[in-house]
Amino acid sequence: MASVPSLASTVNQRLADALSAALPDAAPADPLLRRSDRADFQANGILALAKKAKANPRELATQVVEKIAGGDLLAGVEVSGPGFLNVTVTDRAIIETLAARAADGDRLGVPLNPDAGTTVVDYAQPNVAKEMHVGHLRSAVIGDALRNLLDFTGEKTIGRHHIGDWGTQFGMLIQYLIEHPGELAPASDVDGQQAMSNLNRVYKASRAVFDTDEGFKERARKRVVALQSGDKETLDLWQRFVDESKVYFYSVFEKLDMEIRDEEIVGESAYNDLMPETARLLEESGVAVRSEGALVVFFDEIRGKDDQPVPLIVQKADGGFGYAASDLSAIRDRVFDLHASTLLYVVDVRQSLHFKMVFEAARRMGWLNDGVTAHNMGYGTVLGADGKPFKTRAGETVRLEDLLDEAIERATAVVREKNNDKVGLSEAEIVANGADIGIGAVKYADLSTSAARDYKFDLDQMVSLNGDTSVYSQYAYARARSILRDAGDRGPVAHPELELAAPERALGLHLDQFGEVVAEAAAAYEPHKLAAYVYRLSSLFTTFYSECPVIKPAPAVEVAENRLFLCELTARTIHRAMGLLGIRTPERL
Ligand code: ARG
Repeated sequence: MASVPSLASTVNQRLADALSAALPDAAPADPLLRRSDRADFQANGILALAKKAKANPRELATQVVEKIAGGDLLAGVEVSGPGFLNVTVTDRAIIETLAARAADGDRLGVPLNPDAGTTVVDYAQPNVAKEMHVGHLRSAVIGDALRNLLDFTGEKTIGRHHIGDWGTQFGMLIQYLIEHPGELAPASDVDGQQAMSNLNRVYKASRAVFDTDEGFKERARKRVVALQSGDKETLDLWQRFVDESKVYFYSVFEKLDMEIRDEEIVGESAYNDLMPETARLLEESGVAVRSEGALVVFFDEIRGKDDQPVPLIVQKADGGFGYAASDLSAIRDRVFDLHASTLLYVVDVRQSLHFKMVFEAARRMGWLNDGVTAHNMGYGTVLGADGKPFKTRAGETVRLEDLLDEAIERATAVVREKNNDKVGLSEAEIVANGADIGIGAVKYADLSTSAARDYKFDLDQMVSLNGDTSVYSQYAYARARSILRDAGDRGPVAHPELELAAPERALGLHLDQFGEVVAEAAAAYEPHKLAAYVYRLSSLFTTFYSECPVIKPAPAVEVAENRLFLCELTARTIHRAMGLLGIRTPERL
């Protein structure tokens, strides 16, 4: 495993050295190199440095050019405008760097940080006995991609699915089940759909009794107390709701082609035993205070209507613990037992005030500090194609499974339509590819918009072959693979001695940026940067293969081999990037 520095970083270092030689007082100075349309790269950093040193920027730029070390790397460096440097690298440097990436197996030269920390990622957190909705989908998709990205950079990630499995509604549900035994078939006897419809039925029925029967309401309230105090019969029934819900969750996650591990499903209930102690610690340190019987934390800067302070409620006046207590206890667990250096939450932006308060309280306690930080990647709302919150035409929330099924159905239709004798897919392959493409489309739509923004869930657009979709990149991948299959006895061989055509250079330079984009996307928790990268890669590849023949008309052997080399590295890079996003790339489409 050998990490490969990008051309951008090598060139940047070369310029930085020349800059230090020309202007020793400014060392170490950053020439601020960027990819550019005018040349391969442009450095803009000299202007500010010259200004600081009271030097003429164009003169300084000229001196820097004189001091740049020669060698095979640079084809040209020119001063332009008020003092920019336009840099062109040699074709040789491009192919040699790419060959080093290609030789690095499936890491493709991307560095692995062995001293990275541990990030606990809180994502994919549906609620027990409730249907999952598109918001839960978004959390799952974004969280999964973030974990892949972080893991790939060397960070250790631990998943926590903070499912809603605790709270007063369980009193009602359990009491109902006690009074109507047999209403919930054992979890082992049902599939995901049945599990959810059973739960829905019990939920609705118990709600109806709860709303109309005072006696039942009182028994349900007592049942909450029994649950919180650990009464065996009550806990056993509670467990049945959890198990039944898990059957449903797993069926959805499986359809989503996402691996969720049982030991990482650690819901609100898991922190039950910690909560009294959390409350005691908060109260003893004075971070939380008693107010009208409740234990709360106040924040100067957080105010609601009428400028009244909005407190975080740790313990209600009746002694019950709620959502905040479980989150504060979870922080203690994650920091002190899991030894996390970073806590990442992928939760709807509408809960951002909750997390702001929870994090601030934890900081006051010293549980969070400069060495252990917490972030909520609050994501935006999922909207329908009409721009309104996502609902069915009848105004009901859309069932997640119906949505995924529809995506798969539409994608399968696209695959079937594009299939022909040349592609030659069997019916089974059409179905398998349809699932990969449909699910990929849903994930990609989530991942390609910046998470904080609302986005439109528009299936027609998602499975389109044109535009910024996953299908577009899946087709580019399949095209590259098919070229490699059709190459006969010719194979991919890098030829640094060749002169490159413009589309080859553009593709090559972009391929070389993979590691930088991964690092940036991981550091900023922005998977959409990787999505944008892979889309651009696919479109550069599309231009390349329409303008640079690989097989027909047959170019010179070396040219063909070098192009096959570019095809192969492109395929591997698309495959890797899409894999990090949680999206599969079928071999043939
Ligand atoms: N179950 C919650 C919901 O559906 C999301 C949980 C988010 N995570 C957390 N640690 N509070 O809204």
